[in-house]
Amino acid sequence: MNIINLYEKYFDEETKQVLETFSNYKVYLIGGLVRDILLNKKSNDIDITFEGNAIELAKKINCEIISEHKDFGTVKIKIGNKNIDLASTRTETYPQKGHLPVINKIGCSLKEDIKRRDFTINALAMSLNKANFGEIIDYIGGLDDIKNKKIRILHPQSFIDDPSRILRGLKYSSRLGFSLDNETLATQENYLNNINYDMSCSRILSEFYRTKWNLDVFKMFINQNIYKLINPNAKQDFDFWFEPTEPFIYLALLLPDERFEITKRERNIAEEIKHIQQQKNQQNMSDFEIYKIYSALPIETVQILSIMRDKNAKKYLQKLKTIKIQTTGKDLINLGFKPSKEMKTILDFILEQKITNPNLSKQDEISLIKTTFLNRD
Ligand code: CTP
Repeated sequence: MNIINLYEKYFDEETKQVLETFSNYKVYLIGGLVRDILLNKKSNDIDITFEGNAIELAKKINCEIISEHKDFGTVKIKIGNKNIDLASTRTETYPQKGHLPVINKIGCSLKEDIKRRDFTINALAMSLNKANFGEIIDYIGGLDDIKNKKIRILHPQSFIDDPSRILRGLKYSSRLGFSLDNETLATQENYLNNINYDMSCSRILSEFYRTKWNLDVFKMFINQNIYKLINPNAKQDFDFWFEPTEPFIYLALLLPDERFEITKRERNIAEEIKHIQQQKNQQNMSDFEIYKIYSALPIETVQILSIMRDKNAKKYLQKLKTIKIQTTGKDLINLGFKPSKEMKTILDFILEQKITNPNLSKQDEISLIKTTFLNRD
């Protein structure tokens, strides 16, 4: 198959001119980029592979070398205004399953390079060489899988080598509307029933954050047992009474342990959640107590707790959160109070009244202060 027509439409003139630089070499557009050209979806990177040593190639052609990664045989270059990721063909093995692969050979054949990849839809190459320009090289049936909207691993060890691929599969299901082929689904299920927890959590976390989360994706994540990658005990009867937008909220629901290097702010939220969940006497709190506790927490914490069926958190968000008193410290000073601890007691008192009766106007609040604290109307 040749995709010159799609290629012509996909790239602007400047990019096409830049890619002509490679017309005398065994260079290919590769991976997600070829998939995206075929699907006419925007791609962020220009990923190309040289059947040979890419760093040596970069030194030969007319380009600016931005950075190089000798161990991987990859180099970032700039031609004109275009940044390009130029990779050497390479073979990889996973001596420590679930961790970063080790590179065995740089400059192998394209066919060998293709074998190390995650899914058939990401294992297509398009030649930039003028001898066969535009030809799609499809060693593993990726074209058919794109046509049939199927996500298929290349070999049965794929998830054992790199369990973060399970999240990548989910990412493609949601982003492209594709589904796992039956054998891949069975391999995934089998892996999730026999997880090797000695895995690189940073790879899992980075794929988690590269997934575009919404409720449907999270439901798929739970129903397919993918949550086990993060915490095998995380499955709960969540109450999704609203649709969270922040990915961290979905992650926090899984109570990730210390192996996952989340940010300090996120870790604080996770700790806060554990703390609140351990507190007793949650049943009999007054609305005022609920307000005082939950209004002091970051809003994400309260949202996460409410999805975890903390009734008080839900009540706070649905009913209490918007309640605000209108009386200010300045009003109290105008009434003759001196700045002191008493002022906080007064404002708390008004808040408590307002929570019982949200319709109190500012005038009502001031009258209440006068009758209660100043013995006058
Ligand atoms: N890859 C892999 N296993 C991984 C990550 C990546 O086999 N755990 C391979 C895939 O073939 C992928 C390529 O490396 O196409 C580049 O990875 P990445 O940049 O993450 O994927 P893209 O396809 O470029 O990006 P995306 O799919 O998100 O558009």
